[in-house]
Parts: sequence; C-alpha cells; structure tokens
Amino acid sequence: MTDRYGIIGYPLGHSLSPYMHNRYAYYLGADETYEAFETDPADMEKTLLQMHEDHILGLNVTIPFKTSVIPLLYGIDSGIDRIGAVNTLKYTPEGYIGYNTDVRGLKYTIEKSGLSLKGKDVLILGAGGAARAAAYVSEQSGCSSITVLNRTYEHAESLCRDFKGKPLDYSSLNKLDKTSYIIFQTTSVGMYPYTDVMLPVPDDILSKALSVIDVIYNPGETALIKYVSSLGIPTVNGFDMLINQGLESRKIWKPDEILTKEIKETVYDECTRYSWT
Ligand code: ATR
Repeated sequence: MTDRYGIIGYPLGHSLSPYMHNRYAYYLGADETYEAFETDPADMEKTLLQMHEDHILGLNVTIPFKTSVIPLLYGIDSGIDRIGAVNTLKYTPEGYIGYNTDVRGLKYTIEKSGLSLKGKDVLILGAGGAARAAAYVSEQSGCSSITVLNRTYEHAESLCRDFKGKPLDYSSLNKLDKTSYIIFQTTSVGMYPYTDVMLPVPDDILSKALSVIDVIYNPGETALIKYVSSLGIPTVNGFDMLINQGLESRKIWKPDEILTKEIKETVYDECTRYSWT
C-alpha cells in the first residue's frame, strides 16, 4: 500500500511542500505520495479525524492551523509545550503526535545568513504559529527584547505572555520603541497570489532595521523584502526555512530514511526553479 503524507492548511495554492516531498520520494524510489489537503477551518476537526482513519502517516501543518490544531492531537513532542505551535504531525494508532520543525528550519536559516540575534531587539510581525517559532528562536539566541506587532491585539498579548514580549497592534504604533530591530515577518501578508501588499509598518522603523526575515517563500521577494532591500537592508526569505523544516519533518516520519547530499542538493535546486504558472 502506498504510504500517504500531506500538508493541511488554508489556503494552500502557494505551497511548495507537495512538489518538494514528491521529488524526494521520486529520487528515493519510495512508494509514497504527499498531497495538499486544503481544509476550511470550520472542517478542521472532522478532516483530521478522517485523515487518521485513512492512515495518513505524516502531515505538515500550516496557516492557520499551527496553534489551533494542538487540542485535536493525541500528544505533543516533549519540549515544545513552550513554543505552543506545531507544524508536523506523525501518525500513531491512538492519534497524531505534534512536533515543531519550524524552529530548526528557522535556526538553520538564521545561521546560514550569518545573522546573530544575541543582544538584539526583535520585532515580530504576526502572532500565529510561525511568530511563536520566531519568538522561541530569538529567546534561545539571547535577544535583548521581543516586541510583537499584530492585527489582533489579544493574539499578540497571548504570545507575549509566553515569551515576555511587548504586545502592540496597529492602533498603538506610537508605543513602538524607535530602535533598530531585527524584524521577522510571520504573517501570510504578501504571499502568492496577493503579492503587492505589505503590512503597514512605519517607515522610520523599516528604514533602520538591522535585517528583515520574511518567512514567505512564494514569492521569493515579497513587497516588504523588495522595499527594505531597496533601502540597503539585508533580507532573508523563507525558502531555506521551508527546505529545512521539510527535511526535519521527514526525519520524524521516517527515522531510517537516508537522503544523500546529492538528493538534497538536487531537490533544493529543483525547488528554486519550480514555477507555479
Ligand atoms: P498559524 O498559527 O498557522 O501561523 P494563524 O494563527 O492564522 O496561523 O496566524 C497567522 C498570523 O498572520 C496571525 O498573526 C494573523 O493575525 P491575527 O492574529 O490578527 O489573525 C496574521 N494575519 C493573517 N492575515 C493578516 C492580514 N491580512 N493582516 C494582518 N495580519 C494578518
């Protein structure tokens, strides 16, 4: 029987995960498929139960379910209660177990870009699952402060309770410290197909940012990344984070799988060339 994997989220038109994982399977000669399960948030619980019944062995979880899926799980990996978000589920007969590989993916991306968060003021745009991974990595890296700017104040407040941050919404921008931040953009704003939009972050904050990390990888350059790049500010997009969280998810689903350096590099290159059109 073909082993089934997939991604659950809404929307999913932007997602590269099905292509990426199916290419790994192709080079491994593995009898498996990885499907996009676009799921209306109202149907999430029912869909997850059905997936378990259908014996879907592993799932990635993306916007808007990284936090809301947790109560539906049989358990979560020890050590990730602190993060409060999952992006990987593994089948067990009793139910799914949640893991977070975004954190490893983000850490790897930051290291690769040569960025240090130690002693820096961090501004996180958004307060969902990816924002939680960014807060966790920032805290672990010894950042000096965390400020969370989010559309819904209560969500920023909830994240800040867990990570000792300063919550703000767009009506309280005057309370934003006028400092040089490392900025994490963790929302879906600017993601394909609505690529022209960016969050209304004040120009005096953007223009003196130390670096901007946008977790979006489609497009590779969001409107935000384009704008701050034009000001000479270093930027990082979400591509390496996607690749690395995917590799970490595979290790959880199939601990005995061996992906050679050659396969990893080939799939990396193929993903950079993937065209949605
Ligand atoms: P997940 O937990 O899976 O990452 P989520 O909980 O829906 O998904 O989080 C997405 C984040 O993007 C949230 O911070 C959301 O803001 P709200 O807390 O106000 O919902 C933010 N977001 C999504 N669409 C947005 C938009 N159009 N403008 C501003 N923020 C947006």
